Amino acid sequence: MPLVSMRQLLDEAAKGGYGVGAFNVNNLEQVQAIMEAARETNSPAIIQASRGARKYANDRFLYHLMQAATEVYSEIPVALHQDHGNSPETCRSAIELGFTSVMMDGSLMEDAKTPADFAYNVRVTHHVVEMAHGRGVTVEGELGTLGGIEDDVGSGEIHLTDPDQAVEFVERTGVDALAVAIGTSHGAYKFTKEPDRELLAMSIIEEINQRLPTAHLVMHGSSSVPKELVDLLNRYGGEIRPTWGVPVREIQEGIKHGVRKVNVDTDLRLAATGAIRKAFAEDPGEFDPRYYLKPAREAMKKVVKARMEAFGQAGHAGDYEPISLEEMVRRYKEEGHLLTTT
Ligand code: 13P
Repeated sequence: MPLVSMRQLLDEAAKGGYGVGAFNVNNLEQVQAIMEAARETNSPAIIQASRGARKYANDRFLYHLMQAATEVYSEIPVALHQDHGNSPETCRSAIELGFTSVMMDGSLMEDAKTPADFAYNVRVTHHVVEMAHGRGVTVEGELGTLGGIEDDVGSGEIHLTDPDQAVEFVERTGVDALAVAIGTSHGAYKFTKEPDRELLAMSIIEEINQRLPTAHLVMHGSSSVPKELVDLLNRYGGEIRPTWGVPVREIQEGIKHGVRKVNVDTDLRLAATGAIRKAFAEDPGEFDPRYYLKPAREAMKKVVKARMEAFGQAGHAGDYEPISLEEMVRRYKEEGHLLTTT
């Protein structure tokens, strides 16, 4: 099947009361690991690429990797999402390339570093909604900012989402999904101790969900940074400092309160690097890249499978017929998000 609208995946997730992991990719092995995990668990899938990933892999390679994924795993509904678009132009180029979903991260200015004000965020996000919905493409917006800097994205400061502003933001922009800031950060160093309800403000999700019960909420920075992955990496020469991620049980709580998309990147990076370090240490005489890339792909698949099962998306790949982007255009027009610009 062709790439599917992310909005459809999230609407179905809302109906089924589950969340969908959105996993970042830069290369072939990551795409294969995620798609294989989706097949083995019969899960719908969201694959996302940051601007850094598009640059690293090259847009055309990325596009064709995803085409191959839809051919080889034709039974799996999969959406291709632009992670942290820094401008309408980045989102436009992703749409031209065939992405079925884009994030306009107007919480930061175009430099992807300076926190933006609410008026700017509403303006650019609404602009992207008009452009994307006219092509049947989903839009995720972000209100509040995450901690950490990853792929050159982030102010490094956490600004928690204000639930009152969230209501106004969703109404004024018409976004399909809203990323909220609840104290998480991108990368491996999220918390210096196991997060409690003060560090990880799950109450913000609960409050927004009460006020916007039909909104699809997105948790960024949701890697769990499992101790066993960090330990393995360190056992074979890695130097990851003691750190805590977002516990899976907290994500599951979020899913009970409207979280439909859960962004995970770091856990795959840790899994792959640990497996590669182990392979290098065990046979320093080996120099066939397949010798270390295969266990890296296996390790990523294992993480993705575990998340797909924990988020509840496992078993749901065949629940629905994918609808075309043309049909999405029609639905958006009915909803009132008319195309005014292209
Ligand atoms: P992690 O760094 O926690 O995996 O978060 C990834 C993310 O939010 C991508 O947008």
